[in-house]
Amino acid sequence: MTRAIVVGANSSIAQSVIEQLLSGQVVEQVTAISRDTNSQLQEKFGSSLRWVCCDYSEEAMKEVCVNLRSPENDFSHVFICNGLLHTEQIAPEKRLEDINTEKLQTVFHANTIVPMLWLANLAPLLRSKIDCTVAVFSARVGSIEDNRSGGWYAYRASKSALNMLIKTASIEYRRRAPNVKLIAFHPGTTDTQLSKPFQSNVPEGKLFTPNFVASSLVGIMENLDRESGAEFLDWAGTPITW
Ligand SMILES: NC(=O)c1ccc[n+]([C@@H]2O[C@H](COP(=O)([O-])OP(=O)(O)OC[C@H]3O[C@@H](n4cnc5c(N)ncnc54)[C@H](OP(=O)(O)O)[C@@H]3O)[C@@H](O)[C@H]2O)c1
Repeated sequence: MTRAIVVGANSSIAQSVIEQLLSGQVVEQVTAISRDTNSQLQEKFGSSLRWVCCDYSEEAMKEVCVNLRSPENDFSHVFICNGLLHTEQIAPEKRLEDINTEKLQTVFHANTIVPMLWLANLAPLLRSKIDCTVAVFSARVGSIEDNRSGGWYAYRASKSALNMLIKTASIEYRRRAPNVKLIAFHPGTTDTQLSKPFQSNVPEGKLFTPNFVASSLVGIMENLDRESGAEFLDWAGTPITW
């Protein structure tokens, strides 16, 4: 049996991923990393779930990774779920006039910089003899080719930049930790706090539950072509153009 790491573990989809991994006995233990605790999940899974609080500062991320080191290096699954679309102060931009430095920086920090720093800090922990798959939550709107409707400047661009970082990191991982496969994952529109204000135009049957997405993703991770480089995949396992 192996272990998993779930970063951004209080995301609704991440919580379903944890449930899926532990209830389905996909792994023996999950290390969940989040800014806050989650007593419900901790009570449910006891010692199978190791919960680590982290404020996502660079020093804290480094410290978490140092503490996670063990001779086994037996992590088979990693999920990096962080993502920010809106806050009380930030709404996705509809027009050029809505853009400002602070909003861009906040969104890029959560969507691009934090996930990339995890990819960088986790590398020594993931190099091992066992296959390991790292799923980083991206979004279809980050596809440059697929951008037909415009808008959502910060979110789109932060996910496009994330995709480039994932692809670039995958080239270095291949050399330094060839057992690791990276995917940029688009969950589809999923019923979470992140998508709440934007659900009215979602066609019937296209608003997914976190449980559906989590189980699709875990299934996709079992059936990847491990020889190809990084892939950008949706909830059905279908490739998305970068
Ligand atoms: N829901 C959708 O329709 C949809 C569609 C496409 C892509 N996605 C992507 O799927 C992922 C999971 O989203 P979700 O729908 O489950 O959303 P959610 O429930 O709102 O979860 C938000 C996630 O982002 C993290 N986060 C929030 N603010 C942050 C900040 N300032 N700095 C760093 N991390 C921050 C949270 O980490 P903590 O655990 O520390 O709170 C949590 O992991 C995101 O990357 C999102 O962009 C979602």
